[in-house]
Amino acid sequence: MKTVCLYYSRSGRTGSIMERMADMLDADLLEYTDGKDRSGVKGYVGSCIDSYRPLPQVEIIGGEPDWEKYDRVIVAMPVWAEAPCVVGKAFLKQYSSKLKGDLHLVVTHMSKADYGKAIAKAYAYSAVKPKSYLSLQTKNHDCGAEIKHFVQTLEK
Ligand SMILES: Cc1cc2nc3c(=O)[nH]c(=O)nc-3n(C[C@H](O)[C@H](O)[C@H](O)COP(=O)(O)O)c2cc1C
Repeated sequence: MKTVCLYYSRSGRTGSIMERMADMLDADLLEYTDGKDRSGVKGYVGSCIDSYRPLPQVEIIGGEPDWEKYDRVIVAMPVWAEAPCVVGKAFLKQYSSKLKGDLHLVVTHMSKADYGKAIAKAYAYSAVKPKSYLSLQTKNHDCGAEIKHFVQTLEK
């Protein structure tokens, strides 16, 4: 199985999780973005506001890959305002119809909650239903065991 992992990360947590996951799966790793500077307090507040505004336009850094190459696509994003972030939802809206492989979602968040229900909200933006999802708490928590378990589940 050839896998591509795609992520958006405002403050680096989702990015480092996906680096670990891509390494375990021997997958390609790509970052997508809406190009907006979301750093610092101003960026945090702007991201909260954007959660209630129309979806932005996103792009994949380095350009769009050849989707035909991949049997599995894992798309990762942080949770903002109790839902997958607008950048992640915009990615699904723009690109999901082009994906050839199975789609899986990863969401990261600060709280201990399982964001299964929130993730389901992202399905509305996707042309294909994700086969599975992983909800990962990132605050003061090493996600190593959960990442490993998710990878093992994928490989079954
Ligand atoms: C604008 C904004 C809203 C957030 N809302 C939530 C939330 O509703 N629930 C939660 O658990 N974490 C929330 N977080 C925390 C992030 O989801 C969490 O820290 C995530 O792992 C950050 O990923 P990143 O470092 O890749 O950007 C929010 C963060 C931001 C910036």
